[in-house]
Amino acid sequence: MSNDNSNNEESRSEQSAQSSSMSKIVGTNQYGRGAKSDGQDTNSNEAPTRILTEDADAIVIYFSRSGNTENLVRMIQGQINADILELTISHPYPEDYDETIARANQERENQEFPEINTEIPDLSQYERVYLVYQTWAMSLSHPIISFLENYGELLDGKIIYPFSSNAGYGEGDSLERIQELLPNSSIEQSFSIEDKDVISSQEEVADWLTND
Ligand SMILES: Cc1cc2nc3c(=O)[nH]c(=O)nc-3n(C[C@H](O)[C@H](O)[C@H](O)COP(=O)(O)O)c2cc1C
Repeated sequence: MSNDNSNNEESRSEQSAQSSSMSKIVGTNQYGRGAKSDGQDTNSNEAPTRILTEDADAIVIYFSRSGNTENLVRMIQGQINADILELTISHPYPEDYDETIARANQERENQEFPEINTEIPDLSQYERVYLVYQTWAMSLSHPIISFLENYGELLDGKIIYPFSSNAGYGEGDSLERIQELLPNSSIEQSFSIEDKDVISSQEEVADWLTND
């Protein structure tokens, strides 16, 4: 982790993925069990999203393997003024669903979660953090566990809005895990939606964003 981000002017106004590319909704006809990915955790055709400005007081932090969570992020982006940081890992999950499950099972068994390779910026300007993730094994997905284990202290004192997608079984114990990993943050009411309903959820997302 770099310690001198605050002195680096360039890092405060980055936009490695254009807003225009963030506004499109990725169509997919595969959800839940069996959902393939592009083998690069949504990044085979575009750079990981990194929209950082000097004046935003909110940031959306997310990971997405097969695109559902990224679509949710696009919907949030349409509703609020927030910076966006997409987390990536050193070794992306396989395109194949079953291979991904096998790897995730192994990670969970060993309690060894994937290495985050995103350069995490100075987060001190943000009061609100929209943590956008997916249910894995009825808990928090592994890249998010890894992020919170390694960078959770940067979220001390902030208000966290948990926002997730799942394959129909809900958010499991992910909220408890978030609270455990972020003991000094305030966790607000969560929003979780089934993957196949994400694209038609604009209204629900808007309601949730305005009802806090
Ligand atoms: C390794 C793995 C484990 C999963 N475990 C669950 C689960 O326990 N419950 C559930 O409802 N969905 C589960 N899912 C489905 C995802 O939560 C769901 O498809 C989500 O929308 C994927 O988000 P993404 O497309 O942003 O990666 C799992 C998916 C994967 C790859």
